[in-house]
This record gives sequence, C-alpha cells and structure tokens, in this order.
Amino acid sequence: MPSLPQIEAFKDDLVAIRRDIHAHPEIGFEEVRTSGIVAEKLASWGIEVHRNIGKTGVVGILTGSGGPGRRIGLRADMDALPMEETTNLPFRSKNPGRFHGCGHDGHTTMLLGAARYLAENRDFTGTAVFVFQPAEEGLGGARAMLADKLFERFPCDEIYGLHNAPNLEPGQISVFPGPAMAGADFFDIKVTGKGSHGAMPHQGRDPVVAAITLAGALQTIVSRNADPREAAVVSITQIHAGSAYNVIPEEAVLAGTIRTFSPETAELARQRMREIAAGIGQTFGVQIEVDIRGIFDVLVNHGPQAEAAACVAAEIVGAQNVLTEPKPVMGSEDFADMLRAVPGAYCWVGHAGNVPVHNPAFILDDGILPVGASLLARLVETRLAA
Ligand code: NI
Repeated sequence: MPSLPQIEAFKDDLVAIRRDIHAHPEIGFEEVRTSGIVAEKLASWGIEVHRNIGKTGVVGILTGSGGPGRRIGLRADMDALPMEETTNLPFRSKNPGRFHGCGHDGHTTMLLGAARYLAENRDFTGTAVFVFQPAEEGLGGARAMLADKLFERFPCDEIYGLHNAPNLEPGQISVFPGPAMAGADFFDIKVTGKGSHGAMPHQGRDPVVAAITLAGALQTIVSRNADPREAAVVSITQIHAGSAYNVIPEEAVLAGTIRTFSPETAELARQRMREIAAGIGQTFGVQIEVDIRGIFDVLVNHGPQAEAAACVAAEIVGAQNVLTEPKPVMGSEDFADMLRAVPGAYCWVGHAGNVPVHNPAFILDDGILPVGASLLARLVETRLAA
C-alpha cells in the first residue's frame, strides 16, 4: 500500500511496536505499560511528553521548524477489550481475558509513526499535539482527558483521528462530513422477584419470566415507537439469572445498548424503556429498576476538516480510493466528545482481512500501519504548511 517513503523505511519498527503492544493488551484506564511505551518513544524522538492526562492518557507536543502557529491535534486510542483472543498469531495476547480486538494497538502505533516522522522532519509552522487516549471502549477515556483540561492545557485548532476498517478494501480511506457514528447509551435493568422452589412457582414471583418478556417487549421500541425514518437500535447484550436447576432466583438482570442519531429518538427510547419496564413489573408483580447512562455522543465530522482529510487521503491512496459519500454507522466512538470541543474529522482506513472488529479472531493487517501514519503526518504538514 502507498505511504510516505520515509515512514515506509521504518515500517519494521512500527510492526515491532504494534506486535509488542498486541501481546501485552491492557483495558481502559489500565494502559500503564502501553502509555509507558508511548511516553518513552515520544521522548526518544525529542517530543515534549505529558503523562497522566485522563488517568493513563499521554500527550506529546512538537513545534515545527517554522515556529509556533496553528495547532493540529492527532488522536489515537490505546485500550484493549476484556475478551479472549482466539488467533494463533505468534504475538497473540499474553494477558488472559485481554485482547486488542479493535485494533487500537495499531492506532497507537500509527500515531507513534506519525510523531516520529514529524519529529525527524519538523517541516511545518505551528504545533502538532499527539493525543494518546485511554479507555475508548465505553469507559469514557475521552471525557476523562477533557475533564483533565486537555484542550485548555494543550489547545488545538483542529483534531483528527482514525480507525482501522476491515470492511473496507486495503488502501481505501473513508471520511465524510456530518454525522458518522451513532450516539450510545448503556443500560442495566434489575428485575427483583421472590425466589422459590423450581417446582413450586406459585410460591414466588419469577423474575426470569418477567425478564424474558421484558427483553422481547423492548424490541418494540425500534419496531413500533421510533420513527421508521430515524435510525435506532436497542440491543439486549447480557441476561443473567439463576444458579440451580430447581431454584427460581430472586433476581434477573439485563443489560445492553441504545444507538441513535438524534436526541429526540434517544429520549424516546429511554422513556419507552422505563415505561415498558414499569408495565412488565406491574404485570408480573416484580420490581424492575432501570439505569440508563449516556456513554457516547453522536460523532459529527466538520465539513472543512473532513474535506481536508479526504484531500490528504487522496494524496496517499489515490483519489479513486477515497470514499466521501456519507455512510453513517450505528457503532459509536468517544472521539465524538473531542469533536464537540474542537473541529475535526474521523477517518476509516481499510485493510486486508474480513474478520470484523470485536470478534475473537480479529487480525489487524500490519500493512495499514504506514498508511495510517502517513495520513496523520501529512494532515499536520498540510494543515500547518508554512
Ligand atoms: Ni475501536
């Protein structure tokens, strides 16, 4: 795949960094080893390093040879997922129950590659701000960095991020203006009944039947309540209850996620979830508590920055490989929070392999590393051209 020759020249170093991080995955806010590698590499290239921004986050600051000027932020996420890896890669996860199943090991490495290239050249006027964010996978790493005054301490005029995309062809880059990724809530629902012998249900209040009925009824929020022209998802992703064949438990719990693109649809889904739960609770004589928490904002790319990113992408992969037609997805991304504070854009970079992210057999194609690094590096050089 095409990329900057100078970055291509140290591709082996990038692959080594990526495989090392991959073998030692850390989940959100536990990225101690990973952020240590990031800080050490940045410092070794003469980049000013600030640590512990948003707990385990790292920020690197590099001013170009033209002196201070505008400031361009580049952001990568560093966290792994709490899941087992099932690949047989020689550098597979050494940490049980931890896996870079979303390729953030690659994102971290690409941003390191861009930082190294920019430090070696410094061919720009202004400042590059390298933002290595913890805890993207639903734990609020972006918000933690913002709460630590990320943009007050390290102001950015624009900010860019990227994600690997096994669903795109290798060498394709997608970036478009406007809403690109859904907003997300996570919810927990606790159904409390009255336990009894499995053979004597009439002596209890069965929370299992109530929970199953509730899980089914919640599916009507999207199919019957939401405006069919508005995108919405309600997924129950966890259901837990019971411990024995002959015991009706006291409690059942459900959990899951709501995805929407508009505040109105999000509020409708939350309200209907509470109403349906209350109704099912009354129907079955059980108590149902609903806890819904906003986790991700809708990710909205800013027009001029999306266009700038598409131009830089065309330079690297060719205009025919840059996809600018808006194709929003229901997945979510907490870079959205940063884009609410600073104008910018989020790109998807295609790579070989067709196992989706978050699958235990997901494999990030190392060929993507110089491409992503080149995209990020050229964004700084282009936006901060003297
Ligand atoms: Ni991800």
